[in-house]
Amino acid sequence: MYDNILITGGAGFVGSNLALLWKHDFPESRVLALDNLKRRGAELNLPRLRNAGVEYIHGDIRNPEDLELESPPDLVLECSAEPSVLAGYDSSPAYLINTNLMGTVNCLELVRKHQADIVFLSTSRVYPIQTINQLLYREEATRLALDNGSTISGVSEFGFSEEFPLAGPRSLYGTTKLSSELLLTEYIDMYGVRGIINRCGVLTGPWQMGKVDQGVIVLWMARHIFGGQLSYIGYGGLGKQVRDILHVADLYDLLKQQLRSIDVHNGEIYNVGGGVPLSLSLAELTDLCQQITDRQIPIDHIPETRDADIPYYVSDCRKICSATGWQPKRSLREILEEISCWIEEHAAQLKPLLS
Ligand SMILES: NC(=O)c1ccc[n+]([C@@H]2O[C@H](COP(=O)([O-])OP(=O)(O)OC[C@H]3O[C@@H](n4cnc5c(N)ncnc54)[C@H](O)[C@@H]3O)[C@@H](O)[C@H]2O)c1
Repeated sequence: MYDNILITGGAGFVGSNLALLWKHDFPESRVLALDNLKRRGAELNLPRLRNAGVEYIHGDIRNPEDLELESPPDLVLECSAEPSVLAGYDSSPAYLINTNLMGTVNCLELVRKHQADIVFLSTSRVYPIQTINQLLYREEATRLALDNGSTISGVSEFGFSEEFPLAGPRSLYGTTKLSSELLLTEYIDMYGVRGIINRCGVLTGPWQMGKVDQGVIVLWMARHIFGGQLSYIGYGGLGKQVRDILHVADLYDLLKQQLRSIDVHNGEIYNVGGGVPLSLSLAELTDLCQQITDRQIPIDHIPETRDADIPYYVSDCRKICSATGWQPKRSLREILEEISCWIEEHAAQLKPLLS
């Protein structure tokens, strides 16, 4: 399909998994993973990439010079980021803005120069925090559920669609992503590059270096395996906040389909996630981790809600599903079991990072 693929953030969780899956399916294409290894644990992916024939280049998307490559890409998968929604709250936002916004501009310039195609991994965090907080929720035994009394467009029993209103603050992380979406849309219109924007919910799977502010599914499982403490933070400290999760390999299957008919998807924005069937609360996540590991760990209850928190987000994927026929294949339990096996298998390497 493509001869020369550049994956920015290619040593990160999503980038490395996409690189390996792509190289496996299309061994004849050249896959180049560019990463500055800012994310702790990304270095563990380097031998995996090398062994599979994926080339690695140490580079930083903040530096346009690092994107001057010997052989220009015909496809860029933009997977580099400061991916934490909490970034900039208690510290300078410089790295976040310089990478997620200015760095994306450098990637857009690269695709403009070479007329390459691009997939941008955006986020559900483009949707404003206050509007989500103000929706009506009812408390069920183990989770919050959307009440159907809401009159806001783009929210229904299927979750949040692309029609959900965008006005209002959304965190700097979400803002850098939304700004990048807007810029990409202009590059498509003005310069004729082809691009797709996927607004992803929570992505997870093996080789995610889970930490408190990003990669919570892996972190939760790792703490159950290695021991330690977890906290239900916000919304009364009950762990009833809900997200949908998607296995990174299901995301890959979707990307392949989208890129096979890029002219159909060019310029489109899609909400992409596990949807209602793959939604769970933290309390339900704990329950699954306990069932899979047969272990229990202490969980603290912190009632106060943090600035960027939202009680509920589930991707309404009807647009992408009807455009492609794609559906996630892996169930909640399968995803969590796979993560658990991966942690056990690589315990020596992962314990210092994940416990
Ligand atoms: N994981 C999720 O739940 C999720 C959800 C929605 C969107 N996304 C988006 O998907 C993309 C991939 O996220 P991830 O989960 O793999 O995160 P990750 O932190 O595992 O990967 C990001 C990679 O980018 C690298 N990086 C950071 N700054 C860089 C820079 N200036 N130059 C080059 N490389 C840099 C990091 O070292 C890391 O390896 C991000 O754009 C993120 O915003 C992720």
